[in-house]
Formats: sequence, structure tokens, C-alpha cells
Amino acid sequence: MFENLELQPPDAIIGIMGMFRADPAPTKVDLSVGVFQDETGRTPILECVKRAERRIIEAQDSKSYVAIAGNPGFNEAMEKLLFGAGHPALAAGRMASVQTPGGSGGLSVLGHLIARARPTATVWLSQPSWPNHLPLLRLAGLELAHYPYYDFDRHVVDFDGMVETFSKLGPDDVVLLHGCCHNPCGGDLSREQWDALADLFAARGIVPFVDIAYQGLAENLEDDAYGARVMAERTGELLLAASCSKNLGLYRERVGLATTVSRTADGAAVTRTNLAQMGRGIYSMPPDHGAAIVSRILNDDELTALWLDELGGMRDRLNGLRRTFADKLAERGAPGDFSFIARERGMFSFLGLTREQVIRLREDFHVYMVESSRINFAGLNRSNMDYVADSIIAVLQ
Ligand code: LMR
Repeated sequence: MFENLELQPPDAIIGIMGMFRADPAPTKVDLSVGVFQDETGRTPILECVKRAERRIIEAQDSKSYVAIAGNPGFNEAMEKLLFGAGHPALAAGRMASVQTPGGSGGLSVLGHLIARARPTATVWLSQPSWPNHLPLLRLAGLELAHYPYYDFDRHVVDFDGMVETFSKLGPDDVVLLHGCCHNPCGGDLSREQWDALADLFAARGIVPFVDIAYQGLAENLEDDAYGARVMAERTGELLLAASCSKNLGLYRERVGLATTVSRTADGAAVTRTNLAQMGRGIYSMPPDHGAAIVSRILNDDELTALWLDELGGMRDRLNGLRRTFADKLAERGAPGDFSFIARERGMFSFLGLTREQVIRLREDFHVYMVESSRINFAGLNRSNMDYVADSIIAVLQ
């Protein structure tokens, strides 16, 4: 049987992380995988997480299963965090959620849900998108297509291109949108653009599918969720996958959420049973620990306040690094205009390098980034920033 399998290439992102770990050079710099790093290059456990964990260990008296839909305290708190406690779809009982193993688990559950609910659907991905969106949703058996999203020359969102594409779509189309901090390009939609898309989707019956993995890391928790909220308000149906990997630093705990908004509360009750059945079929039950931590934090005022403070620190660091690095490249005479870096948001931007230049950076300078020239700003710090800027300038000349 296995002789029928073909050798697969390393993962576009995690493969680079593996190469970085194997490189013995003391000057090496990792700008690849989307993991937050502090000024010393560490990916710390948040203090709010540590405190929540201590309380969990103290109180936990069983390792029996939680539930197919996961931790109800987590699911409810996440719905409020994502949509706002007073959101009309929440108040009307039109939401259904299951806790999932990471945001990717959420994408997978929702992908299978689409395949069951609308087997003829086409799911549209932004061009570019997170490299794992395509294989992950293809595994759910979905038909996939791409819509233009980013103007690589001007480093802005190609909004006209999006509208032109979406104006031809209808109820058989599901459009995957990044809630904020677009991965991989860092170009986000403005409020006005979200409003216009929500109206267009409502008019044409297009179903929005929001992937939100970085809430709180662009501007703040509220603004970063604006797109998801307005879509859920103005369109009858919505799918949303959320991750707690980045904004709570819980990467390896695999904690996320799959949520749907249905047209009616009765419809949501039916969707909920389908979400649960999808989860049961794919992984049976989600892991407990990460969601238990998030539930503790979000359901406790003191821990929430601590988290907001720590989240603000991560966000300020990312936005500060963007400004400093854009200035640094200009000061040191980089060919071209890199000011877009300071305007974009989240962990990533494209530098606009060729694949050959990226490989040269890796092989000659030990600076690692994804081959598309996506960099994670969190890998920069005061001691490596000049070196990275000079290395980039060297491969550009
Ligand atoms: C990334 O894009 O680097 C992160 O979301 C990590 C991953 O799993 O790809």
C-alpha cells in the first residue's frame, strides 16, 4: 500500500523552522514561523497563563473527558470576546460554537461542515493566504479558488480586485477572510472596506468565513474584531475559526474555536449538533488544558486585566519593531521604499525579495524567513536588527 505514496516537500513554514534549529551559526536569526519572541529571543509563557495554570492544577480532581463541544465556559467567553457581549446574533441565540484543537482544528471542522451543508460550494481564499489554508481545506473535500487580495507592487490591499471578484459570486460561494493581521502580508481591511464587503455579501448571499488568529495584536481587541462583527451583523450566516495560539501565547496547547452564525436560533441548534459531530469524527474530543487556561483568564477580572496588559505589551513590541525596522532600512540606504512595513499590522509583512534572495539570506547570512519573503517581526531585536537590515541590503544589491 505505502509504495503508492509520493515523497512530500517539507512544510513551507515549519520546514524553515527545522532548518533554523539545525544551523549552528551564532549569528543566525529566525524570522520564519509566526511565534512571538521578546527582546531576548524567548517566547515567554504569559504571567496570566502561569497564574491560571497554578489555579487549575490546584483545583483539578479528574482527568475524565470534558465534552465533545469542549469547555462551555471557554466557548461562551470566547464568543463574547470575539463578537462583543451585546452582539445581536449572540443575543438572538443564533451562534453555535465548539472548542477545537487550535484555530486549524476550527478551520477543519468548519471546512467539513461546509462540505456537508453545501457540497456544491466553492471556498475562496485570498491571494496570498496562509500556506496551510489550501491543503487543510482541500482535505475537507472542498472546491477552492482564489480572489485577489494584495497588490505586491504597491503593498496595499487590492480592494477593487476583491470587489470585482465578489460581485460575480452568490450563495454557493464561501469567502475566507482574515479577521486582522493578515497572514502572510500584514495588509488589513479598513472599517469602510469591511462595511462595503458586508453589504455586498448580504446583497449577493455570499457566506463569510472569518479566520481570526491574531485578535488584539493589530490595534486592540475591539477594533481587530470589527470585520467579524459587522459580517455577523449584516449577513444571515457566518463561519468563524479563532485561535488562542498567538494572543495568549498558547501555541503548543492547541486551543481554538469554531463558531457559526445561523439565520435563526432553531437553525443554530441544528448546526451545533453538526459541529459537535464533525469534531467527534475528526478528533473525538478537544484537549482540555489550553481551553481551561483561557476560560480561567476570561472569566476572572483580575486575570483578564493582566492578560490585556501583557497582550498590549506584545502588540506594542510588534508595532514598534515595524516602525524601527522601516526607519533602519531607510537610514542604511536600502534600495526601494519599505515604509509599508510601518503601515501594515501583525507579525508579518512581505519584504518583496525573490526566492533566490531569500535563499542567499539563509545560506550566506543565516537569516531565515519563509521563501515568499514573509518575515515575522518578532524575531528582530536591538542586537540583531542592524545585521538583518545590512544582510537584506546586501542581497538586494
Ligand atoms: C505561521 O503562519 O507561521 C503560523 O501560523 C504557524 C503555522 O502553523 O504556520
